[in-house]
Amino acid sequence: MRNPGKNIKMTVNSQTVCYNDEGPDDAPVIILIHGFPFNKSMWNTQVEALENNYRVVSYDIRGHGSSDAGKEEFSIELFVNDLLSIMDALKIEKAILCGLSMGGYIALNAIEHYPKRFSALILCDTNCIADTPEAKEKRMKAIESIKKNGVEKYADESISNLFAPESFSTMKEEIAYVREMIIKTSEQSICNTLHALSIRTETCDKLPDIKVPVLIMVGKKDKITPSSAAQLMHEKIIGSILHIIGHAGHLSNIENPYDFNKHLRKFVESVY
Ligand code: MLT
Repeated sequence: MRNPGKNIKMTVNSQTVCYNDEGPDDAPVIILIHGFPFNKSMWNTQVEALENNYRVVSYDIRGHGSSDAGKEEFSIELFVNDLLSIMDALKIEKAILCGLSMGGYIALNAIEHYPKRFSALILCDTNCIADTPEAKEKRMKAIESIKKNGVEKYADESISNLFAPESFSTMKEEIAYVREMIIKTSEQSICNTLHALSIRTETCDKLPDIKVPVLIMVGKKDKITPSSAAQLMHEKIIGSILHIIGHAGHLSNIENPYDFNKHLRKFVESVY
């Protein structure tokens, strides 16, 4: 029996997962996977835009939001395993999968290994490339700095890269909210996830095998996963749609929800 609502807790892979499950029972399912180091509430505007017509599931990745971290070493593969276990527990046979940044890394890995479980893919501000040696080095330095200076300093440094320049004057509330999400994430989870991101493998070679409809969106001023990364995925995924979102950096769903949701809705309507 389905238990719709917000901030529901269930045990998956021996640990507590917190999720939202909204929209009609018998509607097509869309699963939203957040970026790092945020939580499922980053999708609030998208849930609102979709929940009348779709069953929309968003969840806190382990160690983020209100989900337990567990004891295992974090990796994208572990996060994919959690995703599949969540789908099984919620009796979701097939879903449209939407991921932003780290959520996109999880989505790309999930469709590579479990193609039959997904009917479409939405890749937002993400990429298929693994970390370069320089990027890995940067993550190790970030871990050292967090251990020394704490999460607040890390949050302030991250914020400066996350948003488009204009957002700093027009989106003060949203930026404060994103900062809050970061500082609510534990130091240990941030460090463990930074390590997981640094050892993730590339998924670019597998992109031509994707046979479901794919929408790719990226903020025009995304400095973390730039539009060139989105363009590369677009070229490799046959038939994919690419939209560059204006007035947005890395968090295009928060910075320009109007354009983001317009493309999102049009795409999911075309799938079902
Ligand atoms: C994210 O938003 O999930 C992160 O920026 C991903 C990353 O650092 O590679």
